[in-house]
Amino acid sequence: MVKNHGLAGIVVDETKISSTKNAHLIYVGYPIEEIAQASFEEVVFLLWYKHLPKQTELVAFRQDLVNKMVLPAETIRLLLYIAKEPQHPMSILRTTTSLLGTTNDVEHDEPPKILAKMLTAIAAIIRIRDNEPLMEIDPDLGVVENFLLMMTGKKPSKRLAKMFSTVMILHADHEFNASTFTARVAASTLTDYYSCLTAAVCALKGPLHGGANERVFEMLETIQQQQIDPLKYLQDQLKAKRKIMGFGHRIYKDGDPRARILKQIAAELAQTTDNQVYYQLQIKIADYMFARFNLHPNVDYYTALIYHCIGLEKETFTMIFAACRTVGWLAHIMEQRQEGSLIRPSSVYIGPTERHYLRKVGDHNE
Ligand code: CMC
Repeated sequence: MVKNHGLAGIVVDETKISSTKNAHLIYVGYPIEEIAQASFEEVVFLLWYKHLPKQTELVAFRQDLVNKMVLPAETIRLLLYIAKEPQHPMSILRTTTSLLGTTNDVEHDEPPKILAKMLTAIAAIIRIRDNEPLMEIDPDLGVVENFLLMMTGKKPSKRLAKMFSTVMILHADHEFNASTFTARVAASTLTDYYSCLTAAVCALKGPLHGGANERVFEMLETIQQQQIDPLKYLQDQLKAKRKIMGFGHRIYKDGDPRARILKQIAAELAQTTDNQVYYQLQIKIADYMFARFNLHPNVDYYTALIYHCIGLEKETFTMIFAACRTVGWLAHIMEQRQEGSLIRPSSVYIGPTERHYLRKVGDHNE
């Protein structure tokens, strides 16, 4: 019998992009705690090209990404239609990612253009759902500022842009997580970038992966709006054998290093946007989960409050995760295409054996 808990601990390939060895997250050698202070564009460059850009390279790279944050007119036309559908935004994003791969110019799309289009498409889905007009880029701003501008309709303050840049960096890559591995499996067949990204979006959507951030805020809202005792809420959920979203991790059993940084950002934003009640509730829940089960918050826990403070509706939270993780997905797709081979594992068959098909042709009716 194979006792293999969701491929836990199984090494499937080598990578030069990121590592979580000994529960320390590094991007191309840089500890996450240090690289989180860099600019978003620097980190994108690092993850894709494996070294930090020189100042002139960085300026050119940033401008190129910003200039590419534009969607073809035909994509916008279709988006205006599909983004209004009542389906979950992640379902809309899944279709949109696929749609981005169907315009005429697409064969020449390389990672910078693909990332730029994904960010713009995600911002557009949010605006269309909010019945707000689509925003155009401001060429004098960086990628993060433009992403915020196109989502919220407002030019962000320097402080907000810095905090959001850190959030985007912290989500940019995470070794062979479920959606990245899905992207790599697709890339291993040498299919195109957009097909790989569509597959990755499908995997990220689930509540055990990127879908957890939305459920975290759902929990906070339920407790707050219905004035439930938080500890009773948790006990009832656990009694019903439900997981508490935003807690636990396959790799980080003593705490997720990203959550520690996100907690500080959530605290600051909660204060400046008058959302302390949610932050205090999060602290209460986290204290209980640690004391009772030794479970720590993961990357999705404080992110939920951060996105709420920015003014996003909870159903769109996982799309923001997708926007940031597109950086890592693209890095892994490139690596897999260049250095990997077809991913095709084996299984142990445990179904029945020694059966024989004895029915005659046409003998359908039992
Ligand atoms: N709430 C309650 N119990 C939990 C939780 C939780 N959030 N997480 C783990 N446990 C318990 C679990 O029930 C199990 O107990 P037992 O040994 O008695 O059966 C034990 O801890 C080990 O958990 P596991 O699910 O076997 O561990 P795993 O490594 O397979 O799962 C996980 C990791 C993230 C899927 C899991 O912790 C979980 O479902 N968390 C809630 C969903 C969530 O927050 N997901 C976001 C993950 S981080 C970002 C990302 O990848 O997108």
